[in-house]
Amino acid sequence: MRQLFPDAVDPVDPADVYADLPETDGRPAVRLNMISTVDGATTVGGVSGGLGGPGDKHVYAVLRSLADVVLVAAGTFRAERYGPSKTPIAVVTRTAQLDWQSRFFTDPDARPIVLTVEAAPPENLAHAAEVADVIVAGEVDVDLARALTELAGRGQANVLAEGGPTLNAQLANAGLLDELCLTFSPKLAAGDAKRILNGSPLDPPTELSLQSVLEDDSFLFVRYRVAR
Ligand SMILES: NC(=O)c1ccc[n+]([C@@H]2O[C@H](COP(=O)([O-])OP(=O)(O)OC[C@H]3O[C@@H](n4cnc5c(N)ncnc54)[C@H](OP(=O)(O)O)[C@@H]3O)[C@@H](O)[C@H]2O)c1
Repeated sequence: MRQLFPDAVDPVDPADVYADLPETDGRPAVRLNMISTVDGATTVGGVSGGLGGPGDKHVYAVLRSLADVVLVAAGTFRAERYGPSKTPIAVVTRTAQLDWQSRFFTDPDARPIVLTVEAAPPENLAHAAEVADVIVAGEVDVDLARALTELAGRGQANVLAEGGPTLNAQLANAGLLDELCLTFSPKLAAGDAKRILNGSPLDPPTELSLQSVLEDDSFLFVRYRVAR
């Protein structure tokens, strides 16, 4: 892997590049990691797995290792079949209807977190409480700012968001995104796969500034900070 920007460095260790976490004056810092084809598709056949490669897996692991907690929405959790991870993972869900028999819950490396709402069915909340730390942060929708504050209160202030696009758009609309780590997979997909943000338009669009660009095997790893 080599760095193209800000300076040419070849080879480069992504652990050095991404150690530069966003600074947020004490607010929880949210870094979003996504992969898309060059034409903006975030899935092929309903999952992102076909888009990745060895370099991408490496960056993904580095980003997780630098985070206190991973934030993922239930749609992605289900589609991508999340498994155990050394970095604690918080799943955002209204229904609190997750596969409690999956290894993610039965054989965890770190205790899972379920971020949910008062309106979730009580029997689902009871299941969740047996296998996870449950944080209720809202009535009908998880209030993402409140959820991040709750996580920071547990010492988990460096947050790595892993999608999906529906959650990403809410984070952006709430002004909670600090950094975007985007992998361009060297493919074209067309079709109707979601873009990296799927939701209400950002008006005005959020301004970004380029932090770094890495390249490996025709994959591009771009990193942008949200301009404040
Ligand atoms: N290319 C990539 O990097 C990448 C990354 C991630 C995901 N993906 C793909 O994206 C797709 C999933 O994304 P998606 O946009 O359809 O769904 P998503 O954002 O992953 O999940 C939506 C679900 O999350 C929960 N949720 C979202 N916002 C919430 C809120 N404010 N409060 C409470 N719960 C909330 C709800 O779960 P409940 O239904 O449980 O209530 C909702 O149905 C999958 O195909 C996945 O493979 C791609």
